[in-house]
Amino acid sequence: MISSMGYVFIAARDPQQWLSYGTEVLGMMQAPGMPAGDSVYLKIDERPFRFAVVPGEEDHLLCCGLEVRDGAALDQLCKRLEEAGVAFAWGSAAEAGERCVRRFIRCSDPSGNRLEIYCGATLDYLKFVSPQGIAGFETGCNGSAGFGHAVLPASKLEETHAFYTELLGMGDTDYMNFRFSEDPADPGLGLYFLHADNPRHHSLALFECENAAGCIHLMLEVSTVDEVGYCLDRVLARDIPVTSTLGRHTNDRMLSFYMMTPGGFPLEFGCQGLQMDWSDYTPTVSATPSLWGHKFAL
Ligand SMILES: [Fe+2]
Repeated sequence: MISSMGYVFIAARDPQQWLSYGTEVLGMMQAPGMPAGDSVYLKIDERPFRFAVVPGEEDHLLCCGLEVRDGAALDQLCKRLEEAGVAFAWGSAAEAGERCVRRFIRCSDPSGNRLEIYCGATLDYLKFVSPQGIAGFETGCNGSAGFGHAVLPASKLEETHAFYTELLGMGDTDYMNFRFSEDPADPGLGLYFLHADNPRHHSLALFECENAAGCIHLMLEVSTVDEVGYCLDRVLARDIPVTSTLGRHTNDRMLSFYMMTPGGFPLEFGCQGLQMDWSDYTPTVSATPSLWGHKFAL
């Protein structure tokens, strides 16, 4: 039922830090169609914005915006939430206008991650011109594959997994017991990878932990290995902490590295993620996160 990971809202003590990080390091564009006030809106494709950074007391992820195909899908989803006793509230027309969507609801998953679920996203078609010369980000036709993916903390892992699969209709892609050490006795932590109704291998993953920043990482995907390399150079030139070296993931084959953001959580910057056909797919269990590389600094 969920079609993509559409946008995120991020709270920041200084949103201007995200403006310089987003434009100078990630190569995102300050959204020309959005208000330029205390908040910072960043654009990567036909959508008016993908990251909205709003002033806050702490640096953390505020919420993820999940897209559904149309109003009927949103109404059906609300009915399911009601029947399951999950609290939700409609955003006002003014708030929908600020997000450039027709209608949306707010709710939380069982681990407390805040969500907005919306339909009727506006495409402003304002040309995406990357300040770093990136030709484009991989977001599908008209941005229908979403900005990338988010990995969220899920202290109540099984309950949270059931919420996304049974109520929001996301599909299982892969499961992993993520170990931080080579110790075979390390039980690891559970990590579910879920897909939405688009070819991206996963739009959301749930990691069995608590996390003050409200986010394990966000991922953006570019079209070429060189764009990943150029970004890594920009990160190193600014002494931004690299939280994982370059590597290739097993399950989505993403070639990527991870860096720290001003939000207190990392961002994965990659390319070559798999495009899946869900009509012919069996969920997998992966024994290891990466084919090579991805040495995490913890
Ligand atoms: Fe990732």
